Amino acid sequence: MTDAPKPVTVHDLLKMKQAGERIVVLTCYDALFARLLDASGVDILLVGDSVNQVLAGAETTLSATLEQMIYHTKIVRRGAERALVVCDMPFLTYQVSPAEAIRNCGRVMAETGCQGVKLEGGRPIADTVRALVDVGIPVMGHLGLTPQSVHALGGYRVQGRDEQTAERLKGDAQGLEEAGAFAVVLELIPAPLASQISKALTIPTIGVGAGPACDGQVLVLHDMLGLNDRFNAKFVKRYAALAQEVREAVALYAAEVREGRYPGPEHSFAK
Ligand code: KIV
Repeated sequence: MTDAPKPVTVHDLLKMKQAGERIVVLTCYDALFARLLDASGVDILLVGDSVNQVLAGAETTLSATLEQMIYHTKIVRRGAERALVVCDMPFLTYQVSPAEAIRNCGRVMAETGCQGVKLEGGRPIADTVRALVDVGIPVMGHLGLTPQSVHALGGYRVQGRDEQTAERLKGDAQGLEEAGAFAVVLELIPAPLASQISKALTIPTIGVGAGPACDGQVLVLHDMLGLNDRFNAKFVKRYAALAQEVREAVALYAAEVREGRYPGPEHSFAK
C-alpha cells in the first residue's frame, strides 16, 4: 500500500523558495484534469477566472461569476490529493470593501475546500489582503497584466516597460508581501523586472510571461497542451498538440459511423 502524498501547504511554498526549488503551477478547471495534474506532481492548481474564456467562450474574464468559480473550484478540489488549490476571485467580488471580500472569499473557502484565493491588484487592495489574512484566508496576489483591468490597461500588453510603472509594480509587490500574501503572480512583465521583484521579496513569485527568474511558473493548461490552439502568445510553450489529435480522432469516428465500420462485433452484445 502506498502512502497518500503529503498535501502542499502555503508554508511549503515559502520553504521551496528558500531552498531554491521551483514551484510548478497550472490552471485547472475540472476534476479529471486535477487528478492528472496532481499525479504529475504539479504543486498548485489555479482555478483561474480564465475558465470564463477558455471553457465558457467569453471575450474576457470580466463576466466570470462567483457561482461559476465556486463550481469549478469544488470539482478541481475533488481531484486534488497533493496539490494546493487556489481559486481566482472574480471581478467585483473583492474590490468593493474588505467586508464584502471577506464574505465572498470566506464562502469560496468554506464551500469549495480550496486552500487559498487569488486577487488582482497591488497597494490599492493591500488593506483587503490584510483583512483576509487576518481572518485566516491565504491570499495570492497578481500583478502586471491583470486581466480584470484589461480595458483600463488598453489591452493584453506587457506591463512595467517604463521606469514609472516598473517602480509602481515593485512597490505593489512589496505592499502585498507586507499585507501577508503567501505568493504573487507576475504576469507579462519584462524578465529583468520580474527578477528584481523575485529577489526583493521573501514570498515566492509565480511568473507567466515574466521570464525565468521567478520562483515558479504558471501557464493556462489548455494553452500549453495545445488544446486551445486559437491562442498564440510568445510566452506560451506548447508541450502537446491535443487540438489536432482531437480533430483527427473525431473525424475518424465520424467516418467510421457513416461507413458502418463502428461499432464492430467487438463493441456489440450478441445477446
Ligand atoms: O485566470 C488565470 O488563468 C490566471 C493565470 C494565468 C495567472 O490568472
